[in-house]
Amino acid sequence: MKEPTIPSPSSSAPRSTGTGRTRAKAILVGEHAVVYGEPAIALPIASLPMRATARREDGPLMLESVLYSGTLADAPEQLAAPRAAVEATLDHLGLPHTGIVLATESTIPAARGLGSSAATAGALALALADLAGRTLTPQEHFDLVQVGERVAHGNPSGLDARTTASTEPVWFQAGEIRSLDLRLRAHLVVADTGVHGRTRVAVADVRSFLERHPARGAELIAELGQITRDAVDDLALDRPRELGARMTRAHGALAELGVSSPELDRLVGAALAAGALGAKLTGGGQGGCLLALAADTTSAGTIAAALRRAGAARTWLHRTDARHPAAPAQVSLG
Ligand code: MEV
Repeated sequence: MKEPTIPSPSSSAPRSTGTGRTRAKAILVGEHAVVYGEPAIALPIASLPMRATARREDGPLMLESVLYSGTLADAPEQLAAPRAAVEATLDHLGLPHTGIVLATESTIPAARGLGSSAATAGALALALADLAGRTLTPQEHFDLVQVGERVAHGNPSGLDARTTASTEPVWFQAGEIRSLDLRLRAHLVVADTGVHGRTRVAVADVRSFLERHPARGAELIAELGQITRDAVDDLALDRPRELGARMTRAHGALAELGVSSPELDRLVGAALAAGALGAKLTGGGQGGCLLALAADTTSAGTIAAALRRAGAARTWLHRTDARHPAAPAQVSLG
């Protein structure tokens, strides 16, 4: 694993329009345990991009998005996180809180554990920096997105902020990322239960489990951390079967911590019955999405079809060795 390079901040002339790009993320292993200092592995999903623009136009600060169009000050509660990140970014860049129209375009489903809030905040921060003729360092960008993430779910590890800004899979621990040696040639089926995930509640429920059952709670968090450490070798040594088994074990540990749901358990079972090498919830849980690991394209198609028959609202396919040459990193991992 190598250290990320941090580009130095630079500036050019302010523009009339700025653009920012991020993408959805899927946590392969390590969610929830990462809040307690354990590592996690997460993948940016290039097929679910987020694009934001910022343009100068007289009048109040406006937002145009699928969820809401109007003044940012009147945006609904659902957009409180990106709003907080935008306000922090304007202050950071010395831009006025007026005379700008922000717009987002994305197919990332909201509240499904795929990082839509961090991706939205991150793309808007980049668009505003571009408008101001500035480049944000990875740390500046991270800090601004985290302002929103704190509003979204209280005590964010920073995994979503880092992964949605990255174009490569990442190893994440204690706020820092490293790139991974990834030689695994397999396919992930991402499936949406159709039920809103509840990251804030799920994070609070894990905390309450740890308070009520400190010994068992500590064992489960440590087990999830070990699964992530072992998964690094599976990715480097192309061991899909071993990785799949670890993913299913991680689902069991997460379920015991109280963050699965009947829909997630049912769809994990359906994926395994359809030949998945492993399956688990991804992200905050209690709804949202799951990941199933498939050995090849044919098996991925069979699993995706089985998941839809079993009630998944949507499925996406993602190659584990996918790179993102078409998506230039605005925040680089090096
Ligand atoms: C949410 O995508 C991931 C969690 O681990 C929370 C966090 O890392 O902040 C559940």
